Amino acid sequence: MAGKIPQHFIDEVVSRTDIVDVINTRVTLKKRGNSHVACCPFHNENTPSFNVSQQKQFYHCFGCGESGSAISFLMNYENMHFVDAIEYLAENLGLEIPQEAADFSQQRNESKPLYALLEQVSEFYQQQLKSHEPAIAYLKNRGLSGDTAKRFGIGYAPDGWDALNQHFPEREVMLLKTGMLKTSDKAGAAKDRAYQRFRDRIMFPIRDSRGRVIAFGGRVMGQDEPKYLNSPETPLFHKGSELYGLYEARKAAQDAGHVIVVEGYMDVIALAQHGIDHAVATLGTAANQQHSDILFKIVPNIVFCFDGDKAGRRAAWRALEATLPVLQDGRDAHFLFLPDGEDPDTIVTHQGPAGFYDKLSERVPIIDYLYEHLAEDIDMTSIGGKAQLAEKAKPLVATIQPGVYKQLAYRRLEALIGIPVDDSRAAQHRPQLYTDSVKPARRKLGEEALTQMSRAVLIVLQHTRVVACLEGEKQPIDSDIPGATILNQLIDDIQQEPNLSTAIILERLRDRDEYSYLTQLAVRPLYPDGRDLDDDSALAEFNHALAQLRKQGSRVHTDKVDQTKRRGLLARNRGPG
Ligand code: UTP
Ligand code: MN
Repeated sequence: MAGKIPQHFIDEVVSRTDIVDVINTRVTLKKRGNSHVACCPFHNENTPSFNVSQQKQFYHCFGCGESGSAISFLMNYENMHFVDAIEYLAENLGLEIPQEAADFSQQRNESKPLYALLEQVSEFYQQQLKSHEPAIAYLKNRGLSGDTAKRFGIGYAPDGWDALNQHFPEREVMLLKTGMLKTSDKAGAAKDRAYQRFRDRIMFPIRDSRGRVIAFGGRVMGQDEPKYLNSPETPLFHKGSELYGLYEARKAAQDAGHVIVVEGYMDVIALAQHGIDHAVATLGTAANQQHSDILFKIVPNIVFCFDGDKAGRRAAWRALEATLPVLQDGRDAHFLFLPDGEDPDTIVTHQGPAGFYDKLSERVPIIDYLYEHLAEDIDMTSIGGKAQLAEKAKPLVATIQPGVYKQLAYRRLEALIGIPVDDSRAAQHRPQLYTDSVKPARRKLGEEALTQMSRAVLIVLQHTRVVACLEGEKQPIDSDIPGATILNQLIDDIQQEPNLSTAIILERLRDRDEYSYLTQLAVRPLYPDGRDLDDDSALAEFNHALAQLRKQGSRVHTDKVDQTKRRGLLARNRGPG
């Protein structure tokens, strides 16, 4: 896929982007010596081992091994596709993606104008709100200020069947695609007459994690049904993988160290109105594993907040089941149940932020909730009851990622039933984990010895200047030695463009099978003790490695000649018949 965007354009994007800016708006970096550091956003830790080098335009975590360029960072952190990341960076720089690249994927190509259109629709609704008194009164009555309404882009969809079509003439096809218009499905109705889905409703734009409007929720102001209407699934909107308010809440959540997951749009907005701006909401679905996974990439702790009614309890249990498999050391989740008939909106509106924080302090750890809920219908004073609890709990605890957290969860169960738990069987029944969610800790770099080829490549990647200082023989390394093609190409490229950053060099190799190994070499210390390599020693080491490779090259050569000779000899010895 990468091949479809011209390499020169990728080079330009990477060379004009500053990785420190890109990362710093998402993870607060501190300057330390030659690099910038932070606690790693890809695994949980208390002391920073995440390093960003401005010079190399490269990040690397010494804890979990994640590394890469600004593009890789966006891919990992924002779940962007390669092309999205390029496009995003290009847009920030004010660069147009070259035309040749614009048609690499039909769907993406179609999506772009849809985002732009929904943004315009959102502006249109906000505009409409200004002139629709009853809607303004409704919002005021619910305690929202103009600022809050603006922050969440709240608007108003006018009544009638075709306000949108009239305001956006000739956009009917796109409005249908985004679900803003629909055609009548009633038999006998005027054929293909498109009309607007949202009429006379307060409109809440739903934004993706990049802040782009991808859908809407609309609320009636009276008692009509349904109370809320949401955009259908569209190419831009998959409600199971989005969280309302995440774009607005991200920074505050990082600062708070946790995020609050609530049930409704108005809960998020009312909390923000009272300064509690680290809440998000699912979109009329129960929280699923993808939601927890997305949130754990941002904060170490999720607080699920549910209404005290039956539906709330059901949704809570599903959130628990979905969260256990992404729990691991350094992560935690809590559950908060509000009194029946209350929601975060009513509490914060009537009792203020202090009232809500009061309730928040009653949250229960996920493991407590797990055992309490399971024990609800069990007579825990009987032997049978205790056995039953163990049977019910073990398969759930087994889904937690291995580690101290998991062991403590088992120990808690043991305390409840009074005997040790055999968790080996439960472990075998561990369900298939959601793919891509939790990366196992990578093998620490520097464990296995480097070949001369790897040493040479490592040095070129980390100390590009050695290439300019090469003396003597300029012959390429024998291409029979594994890795030689890449090394020769690196040397060639750097000779032609001495100022290439490590990030650009690696971006050019993204499609190669060796890419991930190369990114490891780009950050791995040359010496096993991890000590720094200055430019002079880098050059000496590089010359040494090259000399060894040349020797090896001539050996490979002699071997080959020998082999051909031997084969020839054998053939002759076999003789005729
Ligand atoms: P609630 O009815 O609890 O929403 O539904 P709320 O935020 O408290 O609504 P207000 O306070 O009366 O305005 C929670 C969420 O469930 C979805 C919406 O996403 C809503 O925010 N929902 C609810 C629907 O999709 N359709 C409905 O008819 C009702
Ligand atoms: Mn409510």
